[in-house]
Amino acid sequence: MSQLFTPVRVGRLTLQNRLIMAPMTRSRADDAGVPGDLVSLYYAQRAGAGLIISEGVFPSAMGKGYVRTPGIATEAQIAAWKKVTEAVHAQGGRIFMQVMHCGRISHPSLLPNGAQPVAPSAIKPAGQTWTGSGMQEFVTPRELSLDEIAGVIADYRMATRRALEAGFDGVELHAASGYLPEQFLSSGSNQ
Ligand SMILES: Cc1cc2nc3c(=O)[nH]c(=O)nc-3n(C[C@H](O)[C@H](O)[C@H](O)COP(=O)(O)O)c2cc1C
Repeated sequence: MSQLFTPVRVGRLTLQNRLIMAPMTRSRADDAGVPGDLVSLYYAQRAGAGLIISEGVFPSAMGKGYVRTPGIATEAQIAAWKKVTEAVHAQGGRIFMQVMHCGRISHPSLLPNGAQPVAPSAIKPAGQTWTGSGMQEFVTPRELSLDEIAGVIADYRMATRRALEAGFDGVELHAASGYLPEQFLSSGSNQ
């Protein structure tokens, strides 16, 4: 207990204590993936943690997988996240952005022009997802070409740049829980 509230060095950062807040999707952005004042307030209230990992944030519009989740793909999104990081820093906190591309764990109603979700292979996930009109069956995703995979990697790179521009202290790449990177690593979703 006495150790928990002492500073710790993590890479190039010194955290004010050893509590790290887990990333949690809150679905409080608008339909354009822009987080509003409620999101700034939410994270500022939690800035007493040594480090906050943000909710999953889509690097490109095709990475969105849940209704009302935020992105880091547009100027409006960068500007909105700047307010969030300023609010956290004003309280002495630190915040990383979790970059989350959902791949096949998505739905056309969440994607540009009703696009089919993308994945390593055209294998439909079991189950349903929460959309603007309630629970909907997952659909069969479209297989990414090799060129498109290079494009997705570039999207992660650009998202990281934008996150740093928006004042985040770092990024975490979400590579677990069945999202796109893990879809590539799993035989059940990659042929
Ligand atoms: C509502 C909700 C949203 C979550 N969203 C994310 C997310 O965006 N990214 C992520 O990596 N994990 C997410 N998680 C997982 C949590 O970060 C955490 O790993 C999980 O709840 C297990 O933690 P525990 O073992 O302390 O319960 C979410 C969990 C919940 C309950």
